[in-house]
Formats: sequence, C-alpha cells, structure tokens
Amino acid sequence: MLHIVMLGAGFIGRFYAASILGNRNKDRIIGVYSRKLETGKQFAEDFNCEFSQTDLELAVADSRVDMVCVALPNHLHYEAAALCCKYKKGIIMTKPLARNGSEALNILNMVEQAGIFNGYLEDLCYTPKFLKALDSVKKGAIGRVLWAKSRETHPGPHSDWFWDLQKAGGGCMLDLGCHCVEIARGFIGKDIKPIEAMCWADTQVKPIEAEDNAIGLVKYENGAIGQFETSWCFRGGLDLRDEVMGTEGTVWINNFLRTGFEMFSSGQSDNYVAEKTEIKNGWLFPVGDEVNDLGYNHMFKDMFNSYENQSQPQETFYDGYVVHAILDACYVSAKSKKWEPIHLPIWRGLENVKTEKELKSYNEHYWLIKEEVTHFGQTKRVLKHKQTGEFLEQIDK
Ligand SMILES: NC(=O)c1ccc[n+]([C@@H]2O[C@H](COP(=O)([O-])OP(=O)(O)OC[C@H]3O[C@@H](n4cnc5c(N)ncnc54)[C@H](O)[C@@H]3O)[C@@H](O)[C@H]2O)c1
Repeated sequence: MLHIVMLGAGFIGRFYAASILGNRNKDRIIGVYSRKLETGKQFAEDFNCEFSQTDLELAVADSRVDMVCVALPNHLHYEAAALCCKYKKGIIMTKPLARNGSEALNILNMVEQAGIFNGYLEDLCYTPKFLKALDSVKKGAIGRVLWAKSRETHPGPHSDWFWDLQKAGGGCMLDLGCHCVEIARGFIGKDIKPIEAMCWADTQVKPIEAEDNAIGLVKYENGAIGQFETSWCFRGGLDLRDEVMGTEGTVWINNFLRTGFEMFSSGQSDNYVAEKTEIKNGWLFPVGDEVNDLGYNHMFKDMFNSYENQSQPQETFYDGYVVHAILDACYVSAKSKKWEPIHLPIWRGLENVKTEKELKSYNEHYWLIKEEVTHFGQTKRVLKHKQTGEFLEQIDK
C-alpha cells in the first residue's frame, strides 16, 4: 500500500484521486495540499485523507508520505520537485513537466541526482486505445511508421493561471501539444532522435500573450514525421484523435468525441456528459468511463507497480524533458518561420539512425510500385526497371 500526498486539489487532482482510489484498491491519499483551506478540506473529506495542508513544504515533509503526486499549476512544478528531492520522496508529476526546456532539464537533473523515483503523468500515453495500438505498432502490424499525428483541441482551460504566460509557460501548444508530441514519439519510437521542428502558432481569438492555436511538424532521425494540432478555441468539446500511417497499415484513434456512444437529451436535467462538453441538449457524445478512457487507471497502475518493483515506469521525467526540448524548438520556429534544430543536451536513445527504405521487388528486373484492381475489372501494375529507371504499366486481361 502506498501513502500519497496530493499537491493541488483542483481539476486534475480530483481526476487523479478518483483513479487512485478506484484502481488498485490498496493505495491511500493520506493528505492533500491546497492553497485555499476550504478546497483542501473538501478534498480531504471527499477522498478520506488524514490531513489537509496549506503549506507546501509541510505537506511533502510529512513522515506518513511515500509518494508525492503533483497536480499544481506549471509554475509550481519546480518548487514541488525541489521539495521532493529535499525530503527524498518519490514524485509523480502531471504534464507538462515544467514551463520550458531549461526548467525541465533542471528538474530532471535534480531528481536524478537525488535518486528519487520519478514518473511523468502523461495519461494520454496510457489510454486503453493508445496502449493497444502501440503494442500492435511495436509488433510490426503497420510496418515502418512514416507519420504520426495527434490532435488535442478544446474551447480552453478552466482556471485563470493557464492563461497567464508567466505562470503557464506557454499557450495551447505547451498545454496540449505536450500530450501530442509524446503520443507521436511513442508511435515513432522513443529511442529515435527528434532532430528539427517547424511550427505555426498564433493568437487568433483570446486576449492573451500566448498562442491559442498551433500546428507543428517534428522530424525524426529515421525520416518519420510527427505532427500536432492544438487549439484553445475549438468549439464542440474535447477532440482527442491520433492517426498513424505505416508502410503496411494505418491506425486511427478517437479517444473522446464520437467513440460509438451517442445520446439524445432534451436538456431538462443537469446530467454531466463529458469533460469540456459545451451543451446539455441535442445529440451528445458521452464517454463511458472517463477516468479509465483517459488513461488515468493504467497510468497509476504502472507508476505504483514500478515504484514498488524499483523499476522505471513507461513515462519518466526524462520523457517530459524530451517533450519540452521539442516544444522549445517549435516556439523558435513559430517566430522564425523556419525548420529549427531540437537541442537535447541529454539524449539516451539511438544515434545516427539511417532512414530505412524497403523497396518491393516484382522480379529480377523490376521494382513493384503499385498494383490495383480497377472498377472495370482490370488488374493494373506500375513497375520500375531496376537498371534503367524506366516506368512500365502492365495490365492483366
Ligand atoms: N490530462 C492531464 O494530464 C491534465 C489535465 C488538466 C490539468 N493538468 C495539469 O495539472 C496541473 C494543475 O491543473 P488543474 O487543471 O488541476 O488546475 P486547477 O486550477 O484546477 O487546480 C490547481 C490547484 O493548485 C492549487 N494552487 C496552489 N497554488 C496556486 C497558485 N499560485 N495558483 C493557482 N493554483 C494554485 C489550487 O489551489 C488548486 O488546488 C497543471 O500542470 C496542468 O497542466 C493535466
């Protein structure tokens, strides 16, 4: 049984608590830190905690605590990590790891020097659909991954601090892009080095300094491309979709809207539909079990089992730091309008990976480019001569 203290009693803290208590059925949230006394007290009552604190250091230092779950605004992640190092507590941190690459690198170095357990709470890399798809991709079901796209868009976050560039560190590109970048990295291979990035980001709607829309491309050393689409202005709920294209197949994942569960309501009750749903009447798209479908259950199971087995979870602070390095390059590119290099002062994956190209041989003289049966019953084949480079069309009668 693990004794956890929850730092932050807001939106994600409550999602995490619901998952932790309903998951392995043996862990306890022993205490909670919240800035406001009342919020902490309510959280402690709802989740049966022994203590509620308004002092961050006292919450982490409490001798009953084994592991610290950080669910605080981004500008407090560094301070929370430093306290965990000081008191030698295991730490699991929500996304993004920090506000930028250099803060993330400092956090990574700090926890590794302190030798404490660290887990990065990237829930969208633990959704049941992602885990199943990743397993298939790793087993070669779609061949070599050429392109991995992830999209997270919604009508904007729920608390003031997200909109404050100093506190959040970025806009939708950081807040949502951190998920998308790690999802694409997972499909392409976390040991493949991301080398450069190209990005468009703009503030199209909201009166903020940060971007409220961003699209980016991330080039990997093996030739694969990662792509993200993020927005804080999207109307219609929470859109969470991934697409992976491989030489032998394709994956499409829809984690939230249109998952096969549709409901009509006249809107006369106060029924909760799903995170960031904007309406309560008409045809609605509820989510069967948000805590599970968003990956929280599988994520905490991996975190706690890894802590007990003294092994590394699937997502660590190192992953959180790589994500920041990629997004830093995206921010530079959004300004320069050019491909920008990704700087990774620490890199633990493969080096100098070459683009693999498997050409399909048709016979000793020709490569097979394409074979297709037409709507009028012909089998057409496009071939290329291995020596001369000449193209040839063959039709089976
Ligand atoms: N899917 C996800 O993984 C996911 C989803 C939402 C949020 N998050 C992350 O979780 C963290 C917290 O986000 P949230 O949505 O729970 O925020 P929130 O505003 O709902 O809650 C923040 C909590 O931190 C406390 N707090 C302490 N000091 C604060 C300060 N100076 N300013 C504001 N709050 C302060 C608040 O009292 C509150 O308990 C962020 O890093 C965010 O990016 C992750």
